[in-house]
Amino acid sequence: MPVHGLTRRRFLQSSAAFAALSALPACSLVSASRDNGMWEYHLSAEPSTASLVPGHQTDVLAFNGKIPAPTIRCRQGEPVTIHFTNNLNEPTTIHWHGLRIPIEMDGVPFLSQPPIQPGETFTYRFTPPDAGTFWYHPHMNSVVQLGKGLVGTIVVEEASPVAFDEEHVLMLKHWHLDPQGKWKDLAIPRYSARMGTPGEWGTVNGVHQPKYELQEKATTRLRLANVDNTLTYPIQVRGADAWIVAIDGNPIATPRRLEEHKIAPGMRLDIGLVAPKAGTNVEIMYMKGRFPFLLASFTTTPSTLVEKPLPALPLNPVATPDLANAETRHFVFEWAGAITPADKQGKGKHEFWLMNKRAWEGMSKGNIPDPIATLERGKTYIFDLKNVTQYHHPIHLHGHTFTVLEMDGKPVTPFHTDTVLLGKNGHAKAAFVADNPGRWMYHCHVIEHMKTGLMGFVEVV
Ligand code: C2O
Ligand code: CU
Ligand code: CU
Repeated sequence: MPVHGLTRRRFLQSSAAFAALSALPACSLVSASRDNGMWEYHLSAEPSTASLVPGHQTDVLAFNGKIPAPTIRCRQGEPVTIHFTNNLNEPTTIHWHGLRIPIEMDGVPFLSQPPIQPGETFTYRFTPPDAGTFWYHPHMNSVVQLGKGLVGTIVVEEASPVAFDEEHVLMLKHWHLDPQGKWKDLAIPRYSARMGTPGEWGTVNGVHQPKYELQEKATTRLRLANVDNTLTYPIQVRGADAWIVAIDGNPIATPRRLEEHKIAPGMRLDIGLVAPKAGTNVEIMYMKGRFPFLLASFTTTPSTLVEKPLPALPLNPVATPDLANAETRHFVFEWAGAITPADKQGKGKHEFWLMNKRAWEGMSKGNIPDPIATLERGKTYIFDLKNVTQYHHPIHLHGHTFTVLEMDGKPVTPFHTDTVLLGKNGHAKAAFVADNPGRWMYHCHVIEHMKTGLMGFVEVV
C-alpha cells in the first residue's frame, strides 16, 4: 500500500496498519497490528521548532521534527526494525531504555556502536523479550539532546495482546524555558552538584496540563514515562481508584492501590483504572511535597461500555536470580565536589559525583575506561547500592532487569526494574542474572549527575 503524502522525514510505519493508526488520536492507540510480519519504522533526530509555551515558538531537537516524539509500538517476541537518520549537526546514538536486547543495538557510543554522524543512517533491529512501557533517547551530549526534546516512548505490546478499552501514553517533562518560550540554562553547576537543574515549564506529551477524554467504564491503562532530565514526580491520581499495574515496564504480580508513587528520571509507571461515570474529572497530580500540581486531566464521557474488571498483565520472562549462589557487589555513590584542572581549551571539567570513588572519565574511540565491575555470564549478582549523599539518584543498568529485594534495610515484595531509586542516604539490594554479554552502561539517570561523574559500565563476559 502506498504511503501517500509522507516524506522520509516523517515517521512512518510501512504497513497497512499505519493508515488506520494515524487516524486515531496519538494518545490512544489501543492495539496496533503489523503487516507482513514486520514492525518497521523510520525515525530521525533533527532541529525543529515547537510551540511549547502557547503563543511562542521554541527551537527544539525533535524526533521526526515533532514534539511529542512518535510512540514506537511493537510486540513482545517479534522483530522490530528502526531506520534512524541523524539530521542533527552533531553525532548521536539512540538507546532503547529498559529493553533487554543485544549490546550491538544498545545505542551507546563507542561501547556498543560508533557514533552516528550527521547525515548518517543506522538501522536498529531487535526483538524485545519483555512487554511494557519503555522509552528511547540519545546517549550522547545528553543534557542538550534530551533536554531540548529528543525523548520518546516505545510501547511493547504483550505477546498475546491484553485489551484495555483505553490506553494513553503520558510523557512527563519540564522544559528549561522562560514564559516567552526562550531557553534557560539546561545545567547550572551549583545545581548539578545538588539535585540537578530543574526545568520550569511542566508538560505532558509536550503540552502544559493537557485535557483528554475517557469513556466512562473504560478499563484504562495509563503509561507514564518520566523523560525529564532532572525531576522526580511523586504521582497521585484523583477522581478514580487507580492501581499500579507495572513498574518500569514490568507488571507486578499483584496490582496495588496507587496512593503516591515516585517516578524518577528514566522510570515509568503503568496505572490501571476503570473510568468513573461520565462528567468526572480524573486528574494526574505531581505532589511537590504537600503541594499538588496538575499534570494532566481526563474528563469522562458517556459510553455503552459495560463495567468489567481490569485485565491482568502477564509477568515478563525475567530470569529468577539464584540467590543461594549469588555474589554481592557493593557500589557507593558519593559527592566529590571537585573541579578538575582546566583542559587545553581552558575549561574546567566538573566532577561532582563518584561511584566507588571513581568519576566517569568520559570515553572516546581509542579510550574506553575500565569497567566498574566484571561479571560472569549466567551468574547471579546482588548489587548493594548505597547512596551516601542527601540527594536522590535513580540508578539505571542497561541490558538487564533488576529484581529489587530490599529498600532502606527492609525487605520488599520483589519487583523488576531497570532503574532503582535511591533516596537521601538510601540503600537498596537488587539482584539479577548477568545473562546478557556485553559492556553495559550503569549510571544515575539524573542527566547532570551522569555527566558529572555518576556513570560507569559493567562488563558481562
Ligand atoms: Cu535511559 Cu543509559 O539510559
Ligand atoms: Cu537504559
Ligand atoms: Cu544522581
